[in-house]
Amino acid sequence: MSAQPAAALPQALGLREIQALVADEMGAVDALIRRRLHSEVALIDQVAEHIIAAGGKRLRPMLVLLAARACGYAGRDHLQLAAVIEFIHTATLLHDDVVDESDLRRGRKTANALWGNAPSVLVGDFLYSRSFQLMVELERMAVMRILADTTNAIAEGEVLQLLHVGNPDTDEAAYLRVIERKTAVLFAAATRLGAVLAGADEATETAMARYGLELGLAFQIADDVLDYSGDADALGKNLGDDLAEGKATLPLIHAMAHSDAATRARLREIVEQGEVAAMPEVLAAIRACSGLDYARERARRHAHEALAALAVLRRSPPQAALAGLAHYAVDRDR
Ligand code: IPE
Ligand code: IPE
Ligand code: MG
Ligand code: MG
Repeated sequence: MSAQPAAALPQALGLREIQALVADEMGAVDALIRRRLHSEVALIDQVAEHIIAAGGKRLRPMLVLLAARACGYAGRDHLQLAAVIEFIHTATLLHDDVVDESDLRRGRKTANALWGNAPSVLVGDFLYSRSFQLMVELERMAVMRILADTTNAIAEGEVLQLLHVGNPDTDEAAYLRVIERKTAVLFAAATRLGAVLAGADEATETAMARYGLELGLAFQIADDVLDYSGDADALGKNLGDDLAEGKATLPLIHAMAHSDAATRARLREIVEQGEVAAMPEVLAAIRACSGLDYARERARRHAHEALAALAVLRRSPPQAALAGLAHYAVDRDR
């Protein structure tokens, strides 16, 4: 995030400081998640517990807490909203691992690998609907509207992505349309909801949503870079899942657009076939045109936009934490 007037940007906390700042409230959110996970149907309990207990970064609930506090909220409803957002996220992960045929998530075998596709999809639906129960309890129409629109957009994003599987003509614009819906809108909802709870004015609410959206775009681009370049142990996910599925993400899209004709033709074939065995070839092509650096730079630009949006907020520890998360989104190994 260089080349910009640093003085205009908010101060940023490191991840440890951010976690310390929200530790008490995150503990309460986790307790709430565990309490509200429960079902009398044993298989639901087992599958849901398997993925929830594996942890995960809990980034989205953290965003709800920090956004609410940064906007001056002093109540307790943000804890429940944070749980709602994590339930929705977890539901999408259960579904996503079925669609992507992934077998590692949060350092554990995926639910689909252990129990099969049908239980994963159905327990994902349980988590979705449980999140609606929790959100309705808050009795706020604005909150319900935001979450209804958000979950609908996420579903669109997943279907849109499916339509691009195996399609070598997927370009940057199409890629951005997919990642905005499948990932960024949930980040935007998390931060917008914090502002809504706090009763923030419209400009602040819009800026908080903008922060979340840009952060989400940065986060997904970084995730797509990690799928090529990360460490599977640190990530808790297998590398190469995107290629195996025939999903062209930004590094590969860049390579397809900037390679010589022969390489381009070969890359197109690999995408069409979802040829994961061709990974070394794909990596070489991406490297030859600095595709990972290109994608990292794009992610940094979105993170910078997220940072800039925070200028509407008064300086405070939660504001500095949100700024820190903009750095973390693009500079992480898990
Ligand atoms: C994974 O999200 C799905 C993406 C949008 C890339 P996270 O990387 O936040 O997953 P957990 O919750 O930490 O496991
Ligand atoms: C994110 O895309 C999917 C969701 C928004 C659920 P990925 O398919 O890249 O996510 P991971 O890498 O499996 O976590
Ligand atoms: Mg996936
Ligand atoms: Mg991924």
